[in-house]
Amino acid sequence: MQRVFSGIQPTHGIHLGNYLGAIRHWVRLQEDGRYECIYCIVDQHALTALHDRRAMTDNTYEVAAALLACGIDPAKSVLFVQSHVPAHAQLHWVLACVTPIGWLNRMTQFKEKAGRDRERAPLGLYAYPVLQAADILAYRAVLVPVGEDQKQHLELSRDIAGSFNRKFGVDFFPLPEPLITGEATRVMSLRDGRRKMSKSDPSDMSRINLTDDADRIALKIRRAKSDSIRGIWYDPENRPEASNLLAIYAALAERPVAELEAEFRDTLFADFKTRLTELMVEKLAPITRRMREYLADRPHLDRVLAEGAERARAIATPILEEVYDIVGFLRPGRRET
Ligand code: TYM
Repeated sequence: MQRVFSGIQPTHGIHLGNYLGAIRHWVRLQEDGRYECIYCIVDQHALTALHDRRAMTDNTYEVAAALLACGIDPAKSVLFVQSHVPAHAQLHWVLACVTPIGWLNRMTQFKEKAGRDRERAPLGLYAYPVLQAADILAYRAVLVPVGEDQKQHLELSRDIAGSFNRKFGVDFFPLPEPLITGEATRVMSLRDGRRKMSKSDPSDMSRINLTDDADRIALKIRRAKSDSIRGIWYDPENRPEASNLLAIYAALAERPVAELEAEFRDTLFADFKTRLTELMVEKLAPITRRMREYLADRPHLDRVLAEGAERARAIATPILEEVYDIVGFLRPGRRET
């Protein structure tokens, strides 16, 4: 059985980009039956940017509730919180020792997030992609469903796996493959079709959150940036906003963009927005409702996450022990033969 791993940060709740670009595919892989799926709420990654105890706790519960509401089933997938499984941080250190700094210097997400004053950026932000590699490799996972923005990090994970294997003369870590699929691999901001929909955008109007109710969704779509051309078709270069909304529609409807272009060729932008709002509310409202139910029962979420962490530890701990053997660390209590 092929092993799948993916993660999401609890920096905020989940937005439409996370859902369409990644989580929907997590659920598909879970339901496919051919994969062993491991899904992680990466709180240690979130700590690179989020320094607010209350928000960290609340967001972690919110993301857990959202994942369950989207269809992640703890009976079928391993669902857990990163900091509950020490192997991630432990493997991170080993991998950090086989990762050249030059590789990290090329990471565009670090450059974007660190901004101009790089000297003040935390070390954790710089090391972030090494921890991401550790997440995946701690399970020797081979398939990683993500949105397009994670492509570079995934390439780095492959390079790090290869570097470890070469340096220690082993064929231990498989090279993980990104799975970037669907009509919405890069959902863009509702306010600017050239920027990614993101949790860190200060404007809440730029994104649809899974907590938004029907009125809020309608308001955000109505206010979404548009152009004055009649008809909707896909042309991200010249009509980024129309193209983004069309891709969102296609992903929600699970229909190809080309088919929808024919349908909406003569539709006014405002009418298209009405159709999009109806579809979005139809698809998201049940998720939002289930999410509220899960959120109202934190003890249940605690139990689900504790069980998930136990299963995750049972997979990752022996792998870490093998890694420690490969690098030559002594095992306490074990005599060398
Ligand atoms: P994060 O928390 O930013 O996002 C979670 C997932 O959502 C995808 N995504 C998007 N997809 C389409 N359009 C968008 N606008 C959009 N925004 C986000 C992301 O690509 C991601 O798949 N570094 C990762 C978390 C991580 C991870 C891992 C992922 C940590 N360890 C190991 C895979 C494997 C991140 O920040 O995702």
